[in-house]
Amino acid sequence: MSQTRTRLVMGNWKMHGSLVDNAALLGSLVSGAARAGDTQLAVCAPFPYLAQARQVLAATPISWGAQDVSVHDRGAYTGEVSAAMLADFGCTWVLCGHSERRALHGESSALVAAKAATALASGLAPVVCVGETLSDRDAGDAECVIGDQLEPVLALGADTLSRLVIAYEPVWAIGTGRTATPDQAQAIHAFIRAALVRHGAGQTRILYGGSVKAANASALFSQPDIDGALVGGASLVADEFLNIAAAVAQ
Ligand code: 13P
Repeated sequence: MSQTRTRLVMGNWKMHGSLVDNAALLGSLVSGAARAGDTQLAVCAPFPYLAQARQVLAATPISWGAQDVSVHDRGAYTGEVSAAMLADFGCTWVLCGHSERRALHGESSALVAAKAATALASGLAPVVCVGETLSDRDAGDAECVIGDQLEPVLALGADTLSRLVIAYEPVWAIGTGRTATPDQAQAIHAFIRAALVRHGAGQTRILYGGSVKAANASALFSQPDIDGALVGGASLVADEFLNIAAAVAQ
């Protein structure tokens, strides 16, 4: 892994948690944060819990963010949450285009790129998620699909790209217990890196996500183009999440 890209381990809580459960989880993360060494730690909480994340994490090295953002700045968009609102709650990060949003809410790659641009305009750092389905992979189309997902993001230009993070999450590895092998993940990360380099943003961080656990973290993070992890299920268990961060920090 490059020495110049700070490693990042981010939890995506998805639609899990409660005030009581989060208090315990966040408290344990704060107590154990030193185990992450120089690796940055972050959690992406459901919207209602951002105030709680801010309250617990404000004076700690752990940053927080949201799992989605509206493409609109303000207005009659019932149920939407703007980037400025997320900034108001101290968010550093926002996930854009998670595969569950693409699949379940029909988010297009153009919309995802527009959300990323909106987030950046409010001072948030978007984490743009890309990844192929199993049928894409079996058809030999993984790079083609990811290239298409990345295209409108790459078009935002080098300055923008240097301020965001890309997360490669193969859909077939999310929540399935089936992780990409380190070689499979590295191959796609190298493909994404090459595209970023062509657009003048070779130092943009690329996270891997999909059934990351403490047991497979070291092997994944020894790959040169894997700069950290976007962790779903294992991010709900403080010790497991910290063990992943500790593995990345080694
Ligand atoms: P799991 O770690 O539960 O496979 O989820 C990955 C993910 O979707 C993170 O955004």
